[in-house]
Amino acid sequence: EKGGYEHYMRKEIHEQPESLRQTIAGRLDVDAGDADLDTSFPPGFLADLEEIQIVACGTSNYAGRYAAQLFEDLSGVRATVETASEYEFGAGRSADRTLVVAVTQSGETADTLGAIRRANAAGARTFAVTNTLGSTVTREVDDTAFIRAGPEIGVAATKTFASQVATLAMLAVAIGRERGALAAADARPVLEGLRDLPGAVQQVLDNEDAVREAATEYGDSEAFFFVGRQLGVPVALEGALKLKEISYDHAEGFAAGELKHGPLALVTPETPVLAVLTEGGRADETMNNVTEAQTRGAPAIGCVSAGDKYATLDVSLPVPDVGVVEPLVANVYLQLFAYHVANDKGRSIDKPRNLAKSVTVE
Ligand code: F6R
Repeated sequence: EKGGYEHYMRKEIHEQPESLRQTIAGRLDVDAGDADLDTSFPPGFLADLEEIQIVACGTSNYAGRYAAQLFEDLSGVRATVETASEYEFGAGRSADRTLVVAVTQSGETADTLGAIRRANAAGARTFAVTNTLGSTVTREVDDTAFIRAGPEIGVAATKTFASQVATLAMLAVAIGRERGALAAADARPVLEGLRDLPGAVQQVLDNEDAVREAATEYGDSEAFFFVGRQLGVPVALEGALKLKEISYDHAEGFAAGELKHGPLALVTPETPVLAVLTEGGRADETMNNVTEAQTRGAPAIGCVSAGDKYATLDVSLPVPDVGVVEPLVANVYLQLFAYHVANDKGRSIDKPRNLAKSVTVE
């Protein structure tokens, strides 16, 4: 059932080209510069839309953070992300001009359902992005888009993160086009990136040996810092979460610019820095921050856009050119890094201690 893989997690990491193909199948029209998620917003709703609030937990929250930046850029709507357990509709908003989007793989996360119930009670329109047909969230929202990633068995979310971001990117394009905020010519490069995403992920998977070597070389460190800027920030957060969940090592993710505002005090030769150095992530500025950590002795591993060379990196992992989804491709390297660090330590990768796949208590 694990198809020759030792763990579901590695199998699911390797399934991403195919799961992403399912996610985008029939939904992209590159020539027309549009995406179709079969949504049914009431007439006039999108034109008047003032804010998109994304509510989600854990990895799904990081997918939401990635998407919020895309919503602002592509849909021309203010977009915020809240930790579902902390969400309140909030003052100063008009409910009929707000779309609340729950991002939840399982569709059963109690914190996320609680947030959607508070949004519904406030009178906002609600939307779910989920992997699970017939899940509770689909019965509580006005509209649903399925990410079509297929079943995910490993407790640590991998392929569903990629499919969530891809689905939300298509939603951002669809809303932007329907509102008249996005020209076909500006949508096209995003759609081409999504179209090319499965192949780009495959190239990363084909380079797994390089990540395995880095995991073996640096896996026994004291702590791990993951950094990026812009679209690289949610990927840094996700990279750190993946590593801590399955390896039980201390890992932190943050905006690269924040290194010098505190975390730099922790940096030593025993704290590798993993960086997202791609398009959509202000790579040159990020590299400046990485260099500051290297000056204090930290080894640096970078996921780097094809063609950009940062010769001072200790390990450079190339990311194919796919525009704003490059950080999403870089994330596959971070998934593999977490996997191999944990595997070298003999951890219980598919069922980490203290965690459950679906968290149905608040
Ligand atoms: C991390 C992980 C969790 C989930 C979170 C939300 O690998 O799996 O952080 O992302 O519990 O779950 P869903 O998406 O089912 O709402």
